[in-house]
Amino acid sequence: MNTPILTATDLHKSYTLHGKRLEILRGADLAVEPGETLAIVGKSGAGKSTLLHVLGGLDRPDRGAVTVAGQSLYAISSRRRTRLRAASVGFVFQAYHLLPEMDITENVMLPAMALGRLSRRAMRERAEALLAAVGLADRLRHTPLELSGGEQQRAAIARALMNEPALILADEPTGNLDAGTGAQVLDLLFDLTAKRSATLVMITHSPETAARCARTLRLADGILSP
Ligand SMILES: Nc1ncnc2c1ncn2[C@@H]1O[C@H](COP(=O)(O)OP(=O)(O)O)[C@@H](O)[C@H]1O
Ligand SMILES: [Mg+2]
Repeated sequence: MNTPILTATDLHKSYTLHGKRLEILRGADLAVEPGETLAIVGKSGAGKSTLLHVLGGLDRPDRGAVTVAGQSLYAISSRRRTRLRAASVGFVFQAYHLLPEMDITENVMLPAMALGRLSRRAMRERAEALLAAVGLADRLRHTPLELSGGEQQRAAIARALMNEPALILADEPTGNLDAGTGAQVLDLLFDLTAKRSATLVMITHSPETAARCARTLRLADGILSP
């Protein structure tokens, strides 16, 4: 058997707000094989985004462990975690999260700057090639607000692929898009991840979208089950 690219073991996470404790994750377990496409579904408020943040090293769990590419995310220093995340994980969010003051080429270059392995020129060339791959070759100097929602999400996909991560985590990537645009963005996401043999973990509330993934898990009552 392959070493899983991503594992989660007994994840617990709660929030306390106005003196009230909400237990969101209550022992979630997960193992994802390299190259898999996995959908995570669940009701609004079930904790899907919380889970994705914990899986990607953006938010520490109260208890439990996450491994990415065989390394235990929360057992290492935050500095090493940041580096592991930059090298191994690409994120796509529902609301794109592009920086509005930069053009999309600079946005796409950002993950490579965090890693610092490429020259600035090489970063720019790679960013431009990725933007061409997502159909934005003639929008390189546009800032996010000069683009449509679908174009912004395509730029965000290019950004997610910048460091050639083994793992792509997508949180409702078509949630802000109309059906037709959403379908195009999904085609691109599946196509580009498959071409790179990357693993895709996608949160969605759409059964049709989930059906495009090889496997679906449901998050309910703080745990994941088939
Ligand atoms: N920072 C926070 N502080 C307090 N409660 C939060 C916080 N983030 C999320 N929650 C609560 O946790 C629950 C799960 O949120 P979320 O993970 O965003 O769910 P989903 O993505 O499945 O809709 C929600 O009820 C939400 O209100
Ligand atoms: Mg969410």
